[in-house]
Amino acid sequence: MHAITVRPETSEDARAIDVVHISAFGGEAEAHLISALRASGSYNRELSLVAELNGRIVGHVLLTRVPLRKDGEEKIVLALGPMSVVPSQSHRGIGSELIKASVELAREKGYGAIIVVGHPEYYRRFGFLPAKDIKVTCNLPAPADALTGMEIVEANLAGGGHVEYPEPFIELF
Ligand SMILES: CC(C)(COP(=O)(O)OP(=O)(O)OC[C@H]1O[C@@H](n2cnc3c(N)ncnc32)[C@H](O)[C@@H]1OP(=O)(O)O)[C@@H](O)C(=O)NCCC(=O)NCCS
Repeated sequence: MHAITVRPETSEDARAIDVVHISAFGGEAEAHLISALRASGSYNRELSLVAELNGRIVGHVLLTRVPLRKDGEEKIVLALGPMSVVPSQSHRGIGSELIKASVELAREKGYGAIIVVGHPEYYRRFGFLPAKDIKVTCNLPAPADALTGMEIVEANLAGGGHVEYPEPFIELF
């Protein structure tokens, strides 16, 4: 297998990113979410990573700045997702590379924590902890155990809090 390259999204990548999500999720909802985020100004290309194999984009992960509120105070953390890998290249570690690169990117850019709504058993292996254990909640109508979080900076999530995803995420559910 050729090496996977993980890099930030460029202005050329939007269509290929949509194709990855449509093929991986088997529908257009995540591509629509991305379009809505781009239109709303919540989309930050510097926080969007693609995985390339032989010059073709085969995976994508998006990080979004979201407020985490507790006791009238607010801090910005990152929400990971959507993330996907084209079915023909899944189970080869590309998703893992995207998550590790996301954590590294978050660290480089000085964010203190990442949260994710997704398959908790998948994210646990990278150090994401169940939301109920870290007392984090969010405004998405997702099953409570689907929410997990990881501190990049020690104690950044201490005491927990409530994460507010932007509107387009709510419409996805
Ligand atoms: C989930 C996904 C991103 C993983 O990408 P990947 O490149 O296959 O991931 P990796 O190769 O690093 O890891 C594969 C492992 O992930 C785990 N995994 C994959 N899909 C999973 C799922 N739906 N639930 C739990 N674990 C899952 C399995 O343990 C798998 O191990 P295996 O290869 O021994 O079977 C990819 O399967 C995908 O795009 N799925 C459809 C979209 C999706 O569900 N996105 C995630 C939303 S949270």
